[in-house]
Amino acid sequence: MLEILTLGNDVLRKKCATVAAFDKKLEDLVIAMIDTMHIGDGIGLAGPQVGVEKRIFVCHVPDDEPRVFINPEIIGTSQEISPYEEGCLSIPGVYSEVMRPRAVTIQAWSLKGRPFKMEADGIIARVIQHEIDHLRGILFIDHLPEKKRLRLVSQYEKRQSKKK
Ligand code: NI
Repeated sequence: MLEILTLGNDVLRKKCATVAAFDKKLEDLVIAMIDTMHIGDGIGLAGPQVGVEKRIFVCHVPDDEPRVFINPEIIGTSQEISPYEEGCLSIPGVYSEVMRPRAVTIQAWSLKGRPFKMEADGIIARVIQHEIDHLRGILFIDHLPEKKRLRLVSQYEKRQSKKK
C-alpha cells in the first residue's frame, strides 16, 4: 500500500505533469494506486495523493469496475449543476456537499497508451471532476464558501489531534 498524503502536504497543491511513458513502472503504480484506494475504502485516488506529481487517477464506483485515467481532460460539461456530498482520502473524516456539473465528457489515455473519450453522469462524473481537480492542486474544500471551508478544516484538525 502507498502512503496517502494528507491536507497540509505541499504535493497536494502541485500542478501535475503529463505522463509520457506508458511502461511497466506506470502499470505497477496504477496497480498500487487501485489497491491503496480499495484499502482506504475510497472511490477515487489521484497521483499527487500518493506523492506522484503526474496526471493520473484511478476510480472505482459502486456497480462498476476499477478504471484508470491518464492525462485526462474535461472536454464538455452539462449545463445542469447538482449537489453531491464529497469526501477525500487526503482529508479523512470530513464531508461536505459540493456543487458541480451533473455530467461531463472527458478525454484520456488508457494504461496501454490508447486515447479514449467517455461520457459520465452521476457518481462517476463527480469522482472524475474531483480527481481531475487534484491534478491541478485543487481540493474539494476549495469549492466551498470560506466560512464553511474554515469550519471543515478546523473540524478535520481536531479529529487529527485526537488521533495522536
Ligand atoms: Ni480527493
